[in-house]
Amino acid sequence: MKFIIETYGCQMNVADSEMISTIMENSGYELTDSVDDADIIMFNTCSVRQNAEDRVIGRISNEVARKFNNKQLIVGVVGCMAQRLGKELNEINSKIDFVVGVDNYFQLPQIIEQIYNKRDFVYSVEMNHQEIYNEVYPVRKNNLNAFVTIMRGCNNFCTYCIVPYVRGRERSRSIDEVLNEIRFAGENGIQEVTLLGQNVNSYLWKDINFPKLLQQANKIDNIKRIRFVTSHPKDLSDELIETMANYDKICEHIHLPVQSGNNEILKMMNRNYTVEHYLNRINKLRELMPDIAITTDVIAGFPGESNEQFMDTYKLMEEVRYDFAFMFKYSPRTGTKAADYSNQIDEEIRLQRLQKLIDLQTEITHEKYKNQIGQIKEVYVEGPSKKDINEYSGKSRDFKITIFPGDESLVGKFVDVKVEEAAGWTLKGHIIK
Ligand code: 5AD
Ligand code: SF4
Repeated sequence: MKFIIETYGCQMNVADSEMISTIMENSGYELTDSVDDADIIMFNTCSVRQNAEDRVIGRISNEVARKFNNKQLIVGVVGCMAQRLGKELNEINSKIDFVVGVDNYFQLPQIIEQIYNKRDFVYSVEMNHQEIYNEVYPVRKNNLNAFVTIMRGCNNFCTYCIVPYVRGRERSRSIDEVLNEIRFAGENGIQEVTLLGQNVNSYLWKDINFPKLLQQANKIDNIKRIRFVTSHPKDLSDELIETMANYDKICEHIHLPVQSGNNEILKMMNRNYTVEHYLNRINKLRELMPDIAITTDVIAGFPGESNEQFMDTYKLMEEVRYDFAFMFKYSPRTGTKAADYSNQIDEEIRLQRLQKLIDLQTEITHEKYKNQIGQIKEVYVEGPSKKDINEYSGKSRDFKITIFPGDESLVGKFVDVKVEEAAGWTLKGHIIK
C-alpha cells in the first residue's frame, strides 16, 4: 500500500514526516509523491496559531472527497493538531479515519492495518514524555540538507504557546544517536545539517551540552555546514557563542526569537529574560562574528499590550536590524495561560500593529540585502530557481537565497558568487569560482 504525507508547520514536523516514512517503510508501506496513487493520506499538522489549523481543516475536507471514488482510501491526521484535538477531529470531519499523536508514531502501521480490516475510526494520542524515537533513521527526499532532531518537547511554557502541551516535556537524544545520524547523512553525500529542537540551547545528554555537541559534530567528515534552530535567548551562553565563532562548519546565522521588546510583556509571556539581556546577547554575537545574520520571531498584540509597549518592540527591531523576522499577530490558544487573560486586544489593533512591524522589517531587510552588493558569497547550490530555469539557486552561510546563471552540474556543489543585485529577499550575481 502507498502513502503520502502532507506536512505543515515547523522544521520539526518536516523531520517527523521523514521519520514516519521510515516507520511505515519498515512495515512494508511505500512512500509516493502522487496523491492520486495514495491508499493512505496523512496530514502532519501544526497548532501554533489558529489560522494554521483552519488551513489544514480546509485541506482535509478537500482530500476526503476522494473517498467518493476510492472507497478504500484511508485519511489520517498526525502531529500537533492530532495531539491537541484527539478524537474531536473526527467530530469536525467524520471522514477522518485515524488521529495519531506525536509520541505514538511507532503504532502507525498497526493502526492502519486495523482500519483496513475494520473501517473503524482509531485514535491514539496518549503522551509519552520519554519517547525519543531512537534508531529511526529518516527517509530523506532531499539529498542536500539533513534535518536532525536532537531533542523533543519543551519545558518553558511561554504563556501564549501550545507547544509544551502538545509536544510534552523536554528530552534530549543520546549524543551517539545524533552523531550517527549526522555521519550517516555525510556518508550519503549530504553536506549541510540542521540540528532541530524547540530549544536546542538546553540540549543535555549526560555531561554533553549543546556547545559540546556542536564541537563534536564539527569533526564529522563530508559535512561542510552546520545550522540549528531554535535558540532561546535565556539559554544562549557565552560558550555557545564562542563555539559558533571558533568552529568553522557552524554557519554565521542565528534564529533568536525575541517575541517582544518590552520587559513587562516579556514577563507576562514568561520568557525569563529582559530586553537588556537579549541585547547583551546580540552584542556578544556581533562582537565575535561581525557579519552574523540574525533572524527572529515577534508577536504583535499580546494580551494587555499597550501602544507604548508595542512601540518598544518596534524600536527594538529598529535597533537590532534583523536580517529577517517572522512576525505574527497574537492568536489565543485554548489551554494556554494567556488565552485566559482578560485583557485581550482587538483583532483590528493586532492586525494594525502587525502590519506596522511588517512594513518596518521589509524596509530593513531590503536595506540589509542591498548592502551585500559587491560581496562574495559561498553558495551551496540547491537547484534551478523557481522563476527561470537558466538560473540556479542556493543559500549562503548566512542563510540568504542567492541566484546566479548556472546548470544542473552545479547542484550539490559550493560556488563563490559575487553579488550584483538585491531583489527582495534574494541576492543575484555571477559565479566567480
Ligand atoms: N500566537 C501568535 N504567535 C505565536 N507563536 C507561538 N504561539 C503563538 C501564538 N499563540 C509564534 C512565536 C514562536 C513562533 C514559532 O510562533 O513567535 O516563536
Ligand atoms: Fe513555545 Fe516558548 Fe517552548 Fe518556544 S520556548 S516552544 S515559544 S513554550
